[in-house]
Amino acid sequence: MTEQPEVIYLKDYQVPSFLIDQTELRFELESERTIVNAKLTMRRNPDCQQKPQGLELHGDKALQLYRITLNEQLLNESDYQRLDEGLQIFTVPDAFVLETQVEIHPDQNTALEGLYRSEGFYCTQCEAEGFRRITFYLDRPDVMSVFSTTIEADKSAYPVMLSNGNPVATGDADNGRHWITWEDPHPKPAYLFALVAGDLKMIEDQYTTSGGRDVALRIYAADKDLDKLDYAMQSLINAMRWDEQVYGREYDLDIYMIVAVDFFNMGAMENKGLNVFNTSCVLASPETTTDAGFQRVEGVVAHEYFHNWSGNRVTCRDWFQLSLKEGFTVFRDAEFSADMNSRTVKRVENVALLRTAQFAEDAGPMAHPILPASFIEISNFYTMTIYEKGAEVVRMIHTLLGAEAFRKGSDLYFSRHDGQAVTTEDFVKAMEDASGRDLTHFRNWYNQAGTPVLAVSDEFDAASQTYRLTISQSCPATPGQDTKAPFHIPVAIGLLDSQGEDLLLSDGEAQITTQVTTQVTTQILELHETRQTFEFSGIAERPVPSLLRGFSAPVKLNYPYTRENLTFLMSHDSDGFNRWEAAQKLGVDILQSLIKDYRNDKKLILDKQLAEAFKVVLADESLDKAMVAKVLTLPSEAYLSELAEEIDVDAIHHVRNFVRHQLAVQLETQLLSTYQACTCDDTYSPDAASIARRALRNVCLGYLLATEKQEHLELALAQFHEANNMTDSQAALNIVVHSGYQKAAEVILEQFYLRWSHEPLVVNQWLSVQASNPQAGTLSQVKALMQHDAFNMRNPNKVRSLIAGFSALNPVNFHALDASGYMFLADQVITLNNLNPQIASRLVTPLTRWKRYNTERQEMMKAQLQRIMDSGELSRDVFEVVSKSLA
Ligand code: PHE
Ligand code: ZN
Repeated sequence: MTEQPEVIYLKDYQVPSFLIDQTELRFELESERTIVNAKLTMRRNPDCQQKPQGLELHGDKALQLYRITLNEQLLNESDYQRLDEGLQIFTVPDAFVLETQVEIHPDQNTALEGLYRSEGFYCTQCEAEGFRRITFYLDRPDVMSVFSTTIEADKSAYPVMLSNGNPVATGDADNGRHWITWEDPHPKPAYLFALVAGDLKMIEDQYTTSGGRDVALRIYAADKDLDKLDYAMQSLINAMRWDEQVYGREYDLDIYMIVAVDFFNMGAMENKGLNVFNTSCVLASPETTTDAGFQRVEGVVAHEYFHNWSGNRVTCRDWFQLSLKEGFTVFRDAEFSADMNSRTVKRVENVALLRTAQFAEDAGPMAHPILPASFIEISNFYTMTIYEKGAEVVRMIHTLLGAEAFRKGSDLYFSRHDGQAVTTEDFVKAMEDASGRDLTHFRNWYNQAGTPVLAVSDEFDAASQTYRLTISQSCPATPGQDTKAPFHIPVAIGLLDSQGEDLLLSDGEAQITTQVTTQVTTQILELHETRQTFEFSGIAERPVPSLLRGFSAPVKLNYPYTRENLTFLMSHDSDGFNRWEAAQKLGVDILQSLIKDYRNDKKLILDKQLAEAFKVVLADESLDKAMVAKVLTLPSEAYLSELAEEIDVDAIHHVRNFVRHQLAVQLETQLLSTYQACTCDDTYSPDAASIARRALRNVCLGYLLATEKQEHLELALAQFHEANNMTDSQAALNIVVHSGYQKAAEVILEQFYLRWSHEPLVVNQWLSVQASNPQAGTLSQVKALMQHDAFNMRNPNKVRSLIAGFSALNPVNFHALDASGYMFLADQVITLNNLNPQIASRLVTPLTRWKRYNTERQEMMKAQLQRIMDSGELSRDVFEVVSKSLA
């Protein structure tokens, strides 16, 4: 049994007692071990009230300490002691130089935190608390230091040696070794430190900032991947320009480097001047990368670049403030992607992610506010809530203030806090000070967890030509927060007349600031109370309300729309997002009533309205094909699950398939002609129009196979064989495999593997297509694949593709009633708990949602959580998630 680990509270925050002005590191990289010398120039923090006699540094148990000197005096064992996770020196003066020498073992580092090896390359991952696995240090983000880093290694095995900042000196050493020194002039917390060494190749470009600084841009990867870096480079250049134009932010060093590594726990890391990327977020080529992959590369490259200001120049005071950098930076990268591609499509994708994954998290045992009050292991808080809900909260500030005042606020935030480690409160304050708006009530978004629910009702008084909208808000209890105060919620609305035209409404905000009444078609209603009525006068006929346009707040909204209202909005709403939303609502309404019928053993009959609405959309050539593809995609099983009172996995799966089949049969001719109209064999380009065409084509293909007609299988097989790009060939593969054509599936899976076995990222897709297969027998397939050459338990991308591909993307099989899916996942978590705690703890997620299922499944899921709990010494990561889930 694991001992209860310490809980860390935000309210206990104290400023550091010491500061580190200078950090000089020297790494001697050798095959069996690495020696790290650290020379820290330290002094007492003048802002700290206490004057402790001694000094406590963070440091992992595994650090092998060789020597310590204080002001060049060698310390002996009576001068210091090792702590559980650190080092205490009993007496230190007010200012001093501390030198330590430790030995570490990158080759044995399977947790991928600190210094480790990825396919022969040395690399580091220090966020959040990985630096303490490299050397003894004040490993907290409010201790910022100027770093100088010397790396020494074998010259032929490690010709390239990188760290943050600029290279200042280099030379040869004995025994075929060489060294280099890097200096980073910008003070930074240790979590932004990085080191990379290996036989890396690179592509190089150049960027001149608006202020005239010439920046060398370099992207490093293994030789075989050198041809897959151009898209990331272009994305980087676009991001640098965009940040200058939209936020007035320029880059501040002469070099910007990105390194691609295969073994990485997350997507990428914003280390100052030296980003380290998971290959899955930086490599891109038409042959090997899907459209979604290209967009991920563009988005993540931009995200890490934007962190240079929102994260690095202005950083977090402590890890409770994580959303300060992540929420803001996700908002920035989402806006960048919206500007580079289709704004509405980007918004739809974001919202779909938010209200499946984030809403589910906010309704589960790990629910937390975007400013959490406590944690056991900070790695568990790199969550959908911190990132995605955090971004929505920043977006709401943008909506409330308007673009111009928001920009003034961000300018003030960056200038006021440049070089500082600050809090979300500082961010909100800057927004208030620059705009003159009072965000007191808005701050509840930072401290309260849970997804607010809005209930909207309306009434129309023809005599007085008045229309009234009444909005009530509530928010379910979350762990530790039984009751919630109301939120300040911006609800963007429009009112449509019977012709589908927007009515003109008065812009309340403009009235306040300019004293004149301007007319708008979208008005922002500001909800503060539990229940509030908004009145609109001069309304000649009962309008159809278009509510929460652009998803102006991360809430659930209920309004008693009729199916006629929804089809009307689908074709007339001037807000593109809400046209899609109307289609989703229509789909949800129809699916939910069929699910009810299915559970009551009633015969399923599909309402004609859906096929009719889809037919209209398919016929309208003026529509953006990407949006047509989105509209034609039924609400996902994950979304239907999130909305369900009790999740009936099988009913949801069965009914959704039934509706797909019905639609396919009824719309076969239109689907086929749209499929053909979207077929063209241009050379591949990941631009918005081409992506849209492929998306629509593949949605049609999916439906066509749902007819179960042999001729459509032939179509899919032809597409698989003839495709000149990964999007089309993988879509065909996925559709054939998931449609249950087992013979055909086996053949093309084999062909696909033989063709791509040398491309790990493609092989990962191959693993996940199989793992997410809803057909029977998938679990034994997954188990067999774990023995395949293509799989490696130590590589997080492989684990995500195969194991999470099964447990998170394959609900019918994962929730099999013999508990086999649950037992399988628990086994993997127990194994990974020792190898890689971060990955292990993320894998547990589907089991943590046990309360959402019927009692039979609840018991089985809890039993597996308990089995993990009792399996021996648990990492903090896994302990926190499992114990909170069982509480
Ligand atoms: N800070 C990284 C990002 O958002 C994510 C990350 C966290 C990477 C922890 C590695 C470890 O972009
Ligand atoms: Zn980030």
